[in-house]
Amino acid sequence: MKKWISTLALAAMSLQGFAQNEVTLDASQAKTQINRQIYGHFAEHLGACIYGGLYVGENNTKIPNINGARKDVIEALKKMKIPNLRWPGGCFADTYHWKDGIGPKKQRPSIVNAWWGGVTEDNSFGTHDFLNLCKELGTEPYLAGNVGSGTVKELSDWVQYVNHNGVSPMANLRKENGQDKAWGVKFWGVGNEAWGCGGNMKAEYYANIYRQYATFMTDWDNGSKLFRIASGANSKDYNWTEVLMRDIPHHMLEGIALHHYSVINWDKKGPAANFTEEHYFKTMQQALFMDELIQKHTAIMDKYDPKKKVALVVDEWGGWYEVEQGTNPGFLYQQNTMRDAVLAGATLNIFHKHSERVRMANLAQIVNVLQAVVLTKEEKMILTPTYHVMEMYNVHQDATNIPVEIKSNDYVFGTEKLPAVSVSASKDQAGVVHISLTNIDINKGQEISINLKGITAKAVTGRVLTSAKVQDHNTFDNPEKVKPTTFTGASISGGTLKVKLPATSVVVLELK
Ligand code: AHR
Repeated sequence: MKKWISTLALAAMSLQGFAQNEVTLDASQAKTQINRQIYGHFAEHLGACIYGGLYVGENNTKIPNINGARKDVIEALKKMKIPNLRWPGGCFADTYHWKDGIGPKKQRPSIVNAWWGGVTEDNSFGTHDFLNLCKELGTEPYLAGNVGSGTVKELSDWVQYVNHNGVSPMANLRKENGQDKAWGVKFWGVGNEAWGCGGNMKAEYYANIYRQYATFMTDWDNGSKLFRIASGANSKDYNWTEVLMRDIPHHMLEGIALHHYSVINWDKKGPAANFTEEHYFKTMQQALFMDELIQKHTAIMDKYDPKKKVALVVDEWGGWYEVEQGTNPGFLYQQNTMRDAVLAGATLNIFHKHSERVRMANLAQIVNVLQAVVLTKEEKMILTPTYHVMEMYNVHQDATNIPVEIKSNDYVFGTEKLPAVSVSASKDQAGVVHISLTNIDINKGQEISINLKGITAKAVTGRVLTSAKVQDHNTFDNPEKVKPTTFTGASISGGTLKVKLPATSVVVLELK
């Protein structure tokens, strides 16, 4: 009898592990495009992001490069599909004087990178290097202007230097430096974190400064109207968004930024790889908080801009942990595990859900810094779990978002809980439907029943990213420990899709 009871209990427990999550996709309501720009990245002069990571110099004979930019990294990023790249910061942007980074390299001044490790910045990677790298990557540049320690003239000159095709002082200088044709850069940040490292300004003061800077940022004649992005709120500083939306005339403003990092505690961030379940749960709380943040910032923006003309640009997001032991604390070098993979998947699902207002975003940062997609060590390069998620999800770029209703099981930790499952879906230009799912529960798999309203599909294929432990990651000795594999846990019958997600997993499905 006792044995029979315990067998029953075990069966109930495993059923509980696969209790049904209910999802409805309604293709008849699909109308908003998922702007590919939400798949953007961020490269700052910080640690080994630029020097060593993206750029090794044109005289490097050990690491194959195109005009100094690493070939291996370029190839990997192209495959991942990177729509835009933000540069040169971050905090560094408000110390950066772009004229230091043009002209013959030997004549460029060296400065101290005061924000990040106090290292010497020799300015060998400058405007031409960055914009030519973007061309190589097939990505749109997003330049962050210096408002904190720069001048209106300096930023206005930078716009003229990169965007003016006629005869003008800056266009002439650009030509002298070997670039005849203007690059035509559309995306411009007007300062960064103006409330902090960008000048410790009050919202009202920054709104005035923004108006002044934006006035002198000329569209020029290259057919591409500037997309000016105001330095936005620090996470839940809703007042910042309120003041900017109220005080900046909307014809001078194309986007407002928002920065939110999934950090447990700024004084005690916890390790990047050897973390506990408590660390993990708290990171996920912060990551899923992005949904509430976007809803609340959007509600404020809607009040002033009901037609959603101004975009919300989440131009810094990602996980932020303690640096790896023995590395420079100012370099923000951290490992990247399955925790980061599910964080990325869940965040992208949130961005898709809010695609009407969130039309651009930038993961921080692209190589060797924070939640990087690529890590390098001299001539070696590895792809992180986050890379694989960004690559798997790229099928959603510019596709039409399909609204999702979801009833999820809970991922329970102690007395707290979070929804275990997140889902988003889209229909691409060829009519193909893709569905992305994440299970953040590290202990239980999830069975999901998906009602496919308005979608006729007979077959389903997919890929999954998962690993035995949430701490699993790739290393230079074992670069393929975490990589996508074919997913066989989905079946379709009579308008219903059944999916069995393993614990800690990210899945992307294609319906045929
Ligand atoms: O991404 C690292 C830093 O985080 C950026 O320089 C700054 O904008 C933010 O505080």
